[in-house]
Amino acid sequence: MKAIVLDGINLPLTVKYVDKPQLKANEALVRIKAAALNRRDFWIQKGQYAGLRFPIILGSDGAGDVEEVGSESEGEWIGKEVMINPAINWGDNEAVQGTDFNILGLPQNGTFAEYVKIPVQNLYPVPAHLTVEEAAAFPLAGLTAWRAVFSKANLQKGEKILITGVGGGVATFVLQWAIHADAEVYVTSGKRQKIKKAIDVGAKAGVLYTDKNWPEKIKPDGGFDVIIDSSLGTGFAHHIDLAKPGGRIVFFGGTASGDLPELNARKIFWKQLSILGSTMGSPKDFNQMMTFVNKHQIKPLIDSIHPLAHAEEAIRKMDNADQFGKIVIRID
Ligand SMILES: NC(=O)c1ccc[n+]([C@@H]2O[C@H](COP(=O)([O-])OP(=O)(O)OC[C@H]3O[C@@H](n4cnc5c(N)ncnc54)[C@H](OP(=O)(O)O)[C@@H]3O)[C@@H](O)[C@H]2O)c1
Repeated sequence: MKAIVLDGINLPLTVKYVDKPQLKANEALVRIKAAALNRRDFWIQKGQYAGLRFPIILGSDGAGDVEEVGSESEGEWIGKEVMINPAINWGDNEAVQGTDFNILGLPQNGTFAEYVKIPVQNLYPVPAHLTVEEAAAFPLAGLTAWRAVFSKANLQKGEKILITGVGGGVATFVLQWAIHADAEVYVTSGKRQKIKKAIDVGAKAGVLYTDKNWPEKIKPDGGFDVIIDSSLGTGFAHHIDLAKPGGRIVFFGGTASGDLPELNARKIFWKQLSILGSTMGSPKDFNQMMTFVNKHQIKPLIDSIHPLAHAEEAIRKMDNADQFGKIVIRID
């Protein structure tokens, strides 16, 4: 089968021919029709991800048709169009993933290929209102955004939420979840055009995080109930002032820097702020997300769709923060 096989750090994403995966019981073989990029694929290519192993087929997100299943009892999936939940073996604790937890696309071979194998319990039917490319855009980023916004921040109708770096894949899902939850949404971005796009889909206002005075320009009366951040960096220190007393700040990534800046601890305890780490999501989070997507007939914000042979060009878009929303790979 054709696949994007990465043989080592900093090598380009190129198509190679490899064997089809061999199934075990309770696994399904999915013929992938569309996949989507995540920052994770970029970090792995750069060698900046834990547990690297090569060669590896990248890709956590995918949708396609079930061609085979490892046990007869799951035969009802054969021929169905599915999307894949890449969070494997979450475990039974809703609060945190277990020790067997892993994400499709490292250490297990991923979705940038004609075929992928995946536990049957990670299959979900593609909603009728979505194309296969749209379905492929949801899983990793949508799930991460869902847990951050609802399971962690417990965003309520009418609350004010700040989303930093709104052009990112996860951030655009945070934007969509918050708009459909009837929150008042504010954004930051490195590019004016992306702020405009966020306002076009329902955000109230936005500022460039490259402006020196951006926190003063965006702070609403009283501050934000919820701040969702995936960049860390020096900008994170402003969140302590931007949050309302009792506010919730959730983060799940460090695109701008690997660590937290110095924070004013006295303000954190006096204002009774919650600073919450989050990662991916449980099967319950995924189910809740899909119920919400179906109820509101939500389509993802897709930046662009590229053929598998152009995967390297597609991942370079991330390098330049060129994207607004998800970058999708079509596998013909
Ligand atoms: N823990 C988890 O489970 C989990 C899951 C998914 C992702 N993540 C992490 O979350 C981050 C986002 O992932 P993604 O796939 O959405 O990446 P992405 O699509 O590449 O988006 C990254 C975005 O970060 C923004 N950004 C860059 N520098 C910034 C800064 N100084 N301040 C504010 N925003 C900045 C940019 O937004 P603008 O273009 O608007 O400027 C960029 O588009 C990554 O670090 C990723 O590793 C973690």
